[in-house]
Amino acid sequence: MHKALILNGPNLNLLGTRQPEVYGNTTLEMVENLCVSHGASIGIEVSCLQSNHEGALIDAIHAARSEQDGIVLNAGAFTHTSIALMDAIASVELPVIEVHLSNIHARESFRHVSYISKVAVGQICGFGAQGYVLALDALSAHLKSESTA
Ligand code: DQA
Repeated sequence: MHKALILNGPNLNLLGTRQPEVYGNTTLEMVENLCVSHGASIGIEVSCLQSNHEGALIDAIHAARSEQDGIVLNAGAFTHTSIALMDAIASVELPVIEVHLSNIHARESFRHVSYISKVAVGQICGFGAQGYVLALDALSAHLKSESTA
């Protein structure tokens, strides 16, 4: 059984009530429950963490190095600003699937830049909460391809 961390960044604790026209009505708790149950169905043990603090997210990425096989990361607005998060991911050498509820490429131009994409296996965006399920499937496929390589 593989292990994965679902890591959510700033303001994602407000999912369900935060700009529902952009991010949907699904709460973070519902997203996390969905990830745990979908993970179990595809052989991935899922842990979840959310923080509004850049340093706490970096600490979680460092800790994941010895505890997890991969990370599904929605870094929120830090996606577009944080070289420190990008460096943390590069440092731990774990596969990271980047996820966004909204289609960041169809929004303001400052959201088109992602520092996370530079070090992620790939990016899934625009599918709302379902994007986390797609990200877990992508991580699972990636881990399987790595183990047969
Ligand atoms: C987001 C997109 C970011 O631009 C934004 O700052 C968020 C949420 C998303 O899931 O669509 O906080 O990562």
